[in-house]
Amino acid sequence: MANLLVTGGAGFIGANFVQYWAKQYPQDRIVVLDALTYAGNLASLQPVSDHEQYRFVRGDIVDQDAVAALLREEQIDTIVHFAAESHVDRSISGPAAFIDTNIVGTHNLLQAARSVWLDSDSAPMSHRFHHVSTDEVYGSLGPTDPGFNESTPYAPSSPYSASKAASDHLVRAYHHTYGLQVSTSNCSNNYGPYQFPEKLIPLMIVNALDGKSLPVYGDGSNIRDWLYVEDHVRGIDLVIKKGTVGETYNIGGNEEHSNLDIVKTLCATIDAVFSDNSELAERFPHAPSVGGSATASLITMVKDRPGHDWRYAIDASRIENELGFTPSHDFDSGLRRTVTWMLENEAWWRAILDDSYRDWIEDQYEQR
Ligand code: NAD
Ligand code: TYD
Repeated sequence: MANLLVTGGAGFIGANFVQYWAKQYPQDRIVVLDALTYAGNLASLQPVSDHEQYRFVRGDIVDQDAVAALLREEQIDTIVHFAAESHVDRSISGPAAFIDTNIVGTHNLLQAARSVWLDSDSAPMSHRFHHVSTDEVYGSLGPTDPGFNESTPYAPSSPYSASKAASDHLVRAYHHTYGLQVSTSNCSNNYGPYQFPEKLIPLMIVNALDGKSLPVYGDGSNIRDWLYVEDHVRGIDLVIKKGTVGETYNIGGNEEHSNLDIVKTLCATIDAVFSDNSELAERFPHAPSVGGSATASLITMVKDRPGHDWRYAIDASRIENELGFTPSHDFDSGLRRTVTWMLENEAWWRAILDDSYRDWIEDQYEQR
């Protein structure tokens, strides 16, 4: 039995992780610590709200004393650290929050863990600090470069990836210097249920359903490797349970696609679901299919993102060979599942698009 602290558990990947862990290991205590920034959403944790071993705490990872007190109170032995500012475009327009949360926040979390797990009067307890990071720390690849492996030198190029790179180095330093039992996973682009509709795939789906333009940056040739979020959380589970302390594992889907191809595939998928289900026309009267047009007619090429990394690709042979990880969803099936989930969970994303949503969340929190 373990006592987990999941930071950023109300975000996209964190919420998927909490739902997975509660099902997989029902005896484990799961304490979610989340500041509920614009990206945090209690509705994403609703499926575990009745789980006996679950507790939600609203708090900031920068607050080292509060984190240390929570670690002691809940006798936490495992930290799974998702909390971050995660959107590259926001890091370009406002980098300061990325420095605060991703660098200072991660450092303060490490300090809190060190003070409770290593520096207390009692003998050091068995523990694990798992840090969730990104392939973006390795920078951008050319068309024929091999995928990133765990020895690829760091070359981050956006304020987001630079802040994540700094956090990775701090996590490693706390292992080498103080003996903190850490592990890190660097994963490629995720997609799936509960993703905030500012990221490529959910944004394109909600815009297509509402008949709004689908903005593709630059010429749309930029390539990412895509992994369905359930596969990512399974990979993290493997690293926590079977990975070597102090090591890093790259996780990827072996699914490289250009942005324009992805948007076109999504458009075709949406056209197909509308032609199979006549009820959708009533729910989404502005969708192009309703007026007899193709969803792809909404695609609009727009000004490129500054410093836009061209290609990311992952060499996942280490986690495959050492821990037996393989993704169970390919991109086509993952995309279809994601579109289906968005259609079945319109209330979840409508609430986010609604301006009054943040106020509602504040009210909900005040009433708890
Ligand atoms: P997200 O933006 O959806 O969620 C982040 C969560 O962290 C939110 O719930 C937010 O409220 C919380 N948070 C932010 N600042 C906080 C603070 N100071 N204290 C406490 N909580 C705070 O992010 P995501 O897409 O779920 O990503 C989770 C982690 O995975 C991040 O560390 C990210 O770098 C990493 N990652 C993401 C992807 C991806 O494709 N989304 C890929 C690889 C790695
Ligand atoms: P994003 O989902 O923001 O993830 P990241 O930048 O972390 O990879 O973007 C994925 C890709 O899609 C990236 O190359 C930028 C591109 N993109 C668009 O073309 N249009 C958009 O509206 C968004 C949000 C992203």
